[in-house]
Amino acid sequence: MAYAAFRSIGAYVPSSILTNEDLSKMVDTSDEWITKRTGIKERHIAAKDEFTSDMGAKAAQIAIERSGIDKTQIDMLVCATISPDYFCMPSTATIIATKLGLKNITAFDISAACTGFVYVLSIAKAFIESGMKKNILIIGAEKLSAITDYTDRGTCILFGDGAGAAVISATNNKDEAIIDIHTGADGEYADLLMTPNGGSGSAHDSLTQEASSCFMQMKGNETFKVAVKTLTKDVIDILEHNNIQSSQIKHFVPHQANLRIIKAVGDALKLQDEQVVLTVEKYGNTSGASIPMAINDIYEKGELKAGELMLLDAFGGGLTWGSALVPFSPLKK
Ligand SMILES: CC(C)(COP(=O)(O)OP(=O)(O)OC[C@H]1O[C@@H](n2cnc3c(N)ncnc32)[C@H](O)[C@@H]1OP(=O)(O)O)[C@@H](O)C(=O)NCCC(=O)NCCS
Repeated sequence: MAYAAFRSIGAYVPSSILTNEDLSKMVDTSDEWITKRTGIKERHIAAKDEFTSDMGAKAAQIAIERSGIDKTQIDMLVCATISPDYFCMPSTATIIATKLGLKNITAFDISAACTGFVYVLSIAKAFIESGMKKNILIIGAEKLSAITDYTDRGTCILFGDGAGAAVISATNNKDEAIIDIHTGADGEYADLLMTPNGGSGSAHDSLTQEASSCFMQMKGNETFKVAVKTLTKDVIDILEHNNIQSSQIKHFVPHQANLRIIKAVGDALKLQDEQVVLTVEKYGNTSGASIPMAINDIYEKGELKAGELMLLDAFGGGLTWGSALVPFSPLKK
């Protein structure tokens, strides 16, 4: 049987920075409030002519180069995004494939909001273990600034843009294999976090609707409480199911939504500070891109070594959630 190995990571962060100070000139908020309630200091914003696919392609290019696998060997590309270049079609994945010069491969997007990267990881694992594919490029890419209402202080302080990508490959070596992935969803909570208009649910109205009606809306406080509960249960379940202690985790890489949520989950697991990967301060919440951007951060700092065990944990609109136990298994050691 083939196993799925997490071979490489890459990320792209747009150059323009939106600080808390900048936001305090746009809405009634302050650096002090945002820092205290979220831990976020700044977020990066894509240029007007820079699309989700541009950021995804740049992150993917780096992941391919670092993988040591020739790009002609890549046979599938899956992109997690809630801010695709185009509503409905073509998928952002097909555009990224073309930008990378990848021909005749399977390419599609998935929509699982902030859990998107864990979902695409599970898809890659399943395709590889079934023997259908050998080298899969997975991407989380978001231009959330395009669907953010910059007059709503409850949401605009949270979100940023960016992309992360990884190459997942078949291996016969079980020690290199992704150990386990859990994913789940519950549409009962759909209204906590949504873009309510613009889809077939409001098709007849949409012709007269302004673009702003497609912006994200969130019940922040309720989302916060469900997030802490779900994320904590999720990681406890996956660790117990695999008989792994939290002390064996080298890098806990949670979705970067809010420092207080991350700390609550870290405390529940009795994790030490050095186990917890934090990028929320500088990138804000980049939804499906947040986990691969965070993994890339520790990789570029030289803190992610071959064989080290990562625990990924995500939660997002849908609601969706997911966790994964993933050893870093580069070909180039
Ligand atoms: C959004 C969030 C930061 C708000 O923090 P909170 O502590 O829950 O704050 P509340 O929504 O209860 O609002 C408290 C007060 O602050 C105000 N407030 C909200 N946003 C504010 C802002 N940006 N600046 C200043 N005041 C703000 C509210 O109006 C409210 O005022 P009131 O008491 O006079 O009514 C927090 O709920 C959160 O992070 N939620 C989860 C978001 C998330 O993770 N979403 C993505 C999931 S993937």
